[in-house]
Amino acid sequence: MTNIDQAGSYRLGDRTVRRLGYGAMQLAGPGVFGPPKDPEAARAVLREALALGVDHIDTSDFYGPHVTNRLIREALHPYPDALTIVTKIGARRDAAGAWLTAHSAEELQQAVHDNLRNLGLDVLEVVNYRCMIDVHGPAEGSIEAPLAALAELKERGLVKHIGLSNVTTAQVEEARRIVPVACVQNMYNLAHRDDDALIDALARDGIPYVPFFPLGGFTPLQSSALSAVAERLGATPMQVAIAWLLQRAPNILLIPGTSSVAHLRENLAAAELVLPADALETLNRM
Ligand SMILES: NC(=O)c1ccc[n+]([C@@H]2O[C@H](COP(=O)([O-])OP(=O)(O)OC[C@H]3O[C@@H](n4cnc5c(N)ncnc54)[C@H](OP(=O)(O)O)[C@@H]3O)[C@@H](O)[C@H]2O)c1
Repeated sequence: MTNIDQAGSYRLGDRTVRRLGYGAMQLAGPGVFGPPKDPEAARAVLREALALGVDHIDTSDFYGPHVTNRLIREALHPYPDALTIVTKIGARRDAAGAWLTAHSAEELQQAVHDNLRNLGLDVLEVVNYRCMIDVHGPAEGSIEAPLAALAELKERGLVKHIGLSNVTTAQVEEARRIVPVACVQNMYNLAHRDDDALIDALARDGIPYVPFFPLGGFTPLQSSALSAVAERLGATPMQVAIAWLLQRAPNILLIPGTSSVAHLRENLAAAELVLPADALETLNRM
């Protein structure tokens, strides 16, 4: 059985989590909307993740909406003490599944209560504020008002730690003037490296960076260079993509997503894959 401890661990809020975690978004139905075809298969993925040592799960109540959180609760509640569930707020879905902004103080408070209820928790360990100025990627603009609203929810004891998602470096700095930032979750993978400088800056301050779409997202990474490295090392391309991220910086926490137990096992086995210098060089040039 894979020993995911080989990937190491890192501080997240006031806990320490294993660097290989799990992202639950793929457990909802197509388009992250509605229930999955086979809810029991989705719950089996969650149970297997914990059985293999995962102690950090990323979710949101806007996956489904409410679907992944309820699956997590059905599969894993009562939660082991060591499990850290990180959720995100700041968006909502309409009846057709579109992703809309929901960042007023009232909407953020409602989202925290929805997450608490659907996850079956009294307090949320880490809540990421998902910036929606541009749904597709970080865009400049003040996030002071939603962060102040979240800080108030923290003071009321509903949220322990606040993180950020889909943000620029300036927004990280703005947020840190309002509240301690527990983590930053932006898109980053072998083929999309806009955040190189941000990752290094966060590492210097001991703040975890959690790449979303670590495998490329809905269309997983495909590259002849990646496949060639994987073949030479006797690994799969997805394992190499994960190992590259683990070696990229010590503060990177991984949450690869999958709806399949077989893919989950494959991804977690990347904890044991060490990329030699020449492979890293090839991948860094990708
Ligand atoms: N903050 C944000 O805005 C944001 C945005 C997107 C995602 N997220 C979070 O980040 C997590 C990870 O992102 P993601 O799940 O969207 O993308 P991802 O981890 O980059 O990739 C998931 C995709 O890769 C496939 N896959 C996984 N393992 C595989 C394997 N071993 N071989 C072949 N294909 C494989 C999955 O299909 P199968 O299901 O068939 O395995 C799925 O299509 C999400 O679960 C979510 O928690 C956050």
